Amino acid sequence: MAETKRTATLTLDGKTYDLPVLSPSVGPDVLDIRKLYAQADVFTFDPGFTSTAACESEITYIDGDKGELLYRGYPIEQLAEKSHYLEVCYLLLNGELPTEKQMTDFEFRITRHTMLHEQIHMFFRGFRRDSHPMATMVGVVGAMSAFYHDSLDINDPWQREVAAMRMIAKLPTIAAMAYKYSIGQPFVYPRNDLDYAANFLHMCFSVPAEPYVVKPELAKAMDRIMMLHADHEQNASTSTVRLAGSSGANPFACVAAGIACLWGPAHGGANQACLEMLREIGSVDRIPEFIARAKDKNDPFRLMGFGHRVYKNFDPRAKVMKESADEVLDLLGIHDNPILQVAKELERIALEDDYFVSKKLYPNVDFYSGIILEAMGFPTSMFTPIFALSRTVGWISQWKEMLGDPTGKIGRPRQLYTGHVARDYVPVPSR
Ligand code: ACO
Repeated sequence: MAETKRTATLTLDGKTYDLPVLSPSVGPDVLDIRKLYAQADVFTFDPGFTSTAACESEITYIDGDKGELLYRGYPIEQLAEKSHYLEVCYLLLNGELPTEKQMTDFEFRITRHTMLHEQIHMFFRGFRRDSHPMATMVGVVGAMSAFYHDSLDINDPWQREVAAMRMIAKLPTIAAMAYKYSIGQPFVYPRNDLDYAANFLHMCFSVPAEPYVVKPELAKAMDRIMMLHADHEQNASTSTVRLAGSSGANPFACVAAGIACLWGPAHGGANQACLEMLREIGSVDRIPEFIARAKDKNDPFRLMGFGHRVYKNFDPRAKVMKESADEVLDLLGIHDNPILQVAKELERIALEDDYFVSKKLYPNVDFYSGIILEAMGFPTSMFTPIFALSRTVGWISQWKEMLGDPTGKIGRPRQLYTGHVARDYVPVPSR
């Protein structure tokens, strides 16, 4: 629990109000305004939550100025180098790194939940073939609540646990099926002898007509993408999951809401938007034209894959992802890809350009993840689904934490109303 060490004083209309100042374990202090409305009859105004902590959390910490990201206190760079995705899942869910036995048990439970209820295959067939895989995922994950009735009771810790296992295990299967469906290939069942990332590549790229061997280096790069996306504090989709969960909605519905929010191009959809932008630029000589558009106040165009609400120095995930991108491209012998040349030149120019430097707009994680996924053979439409399956553990960890908070309330923001005051209804002939 956060401690109160001092108070701030608000003076309004000649009256003073004491606001407790809560101290986190690290990061800026937080003014506790929970009693403000009851005492002073005022709300606070903070659209976009730029200065508002919506909850207390022990899971992930970001220092945007230092470019630091910690999962349960462990720096992301150390985890990316020494850990693996399922260990990170265990850490996020349970708060500590697992012992060898805990890890074996956890892996065993996850791999035994990778298959989907067979009737879900029929549910898939109701979607148009050209559906975006994110549209299919929002639908199928939401529909899991219609298939797994024995893990819907949020007040039963065991059911919460089973729902968590099911979603972490089944999201890769669902994402891979959404992809296979969109290209008209048969669904590929999971293989429990493969690790989590390798199994995902297998379900996406193998076909019944010939054997498919997952390259270990690509599985490692995929595992790293998953680790880097596993959680990110109170971002838009995580806040959506918490808000949905605060009403007591079931976990599958909450994660479906998170997926819907993630889809937007200002959030998880940026990796797809970034690759599409690189394609639209097409060649290095057209970069200045696009940089000029990004700076033009009257043009809504933004350089996708640049900028972040919290990171104002660099995105530590982008650093690791850039190294991974270089490794994957080397492994696959991709050196003269025009998209890659545009990406490298764009990165170079933007990092030197006054507009981007002064506004602290650095390449974010999506800038490099798109390049790796494209090199692996994924279409752009699969970029955000891969983000979604990786972030599922973060959503669930935050959802579980929220349900365990004894001070928890339904999320219900207030507003600054600027519409009409009460007025009388006017019948049609008199309008
Ligand atoms: N290209 C050009 N200018 C930009 C960009 C960009 N990518 N991002 C921000 N700016 C400018 C804004 O126009 C604004 O300029 P102003 O101060 O002159 O008005 C200033 O930088 C600050 O931008 P805001 O929109 O206020 O910053 P905010 O924190 O609200 O937005 C966001 C962050 C949404 C990520 C934004 O930088 C953006 O749209 N980036 C492109 C999309 C993207 O890559 N999203 C992925 C985020 S990472 C993730 O979700 C995993």
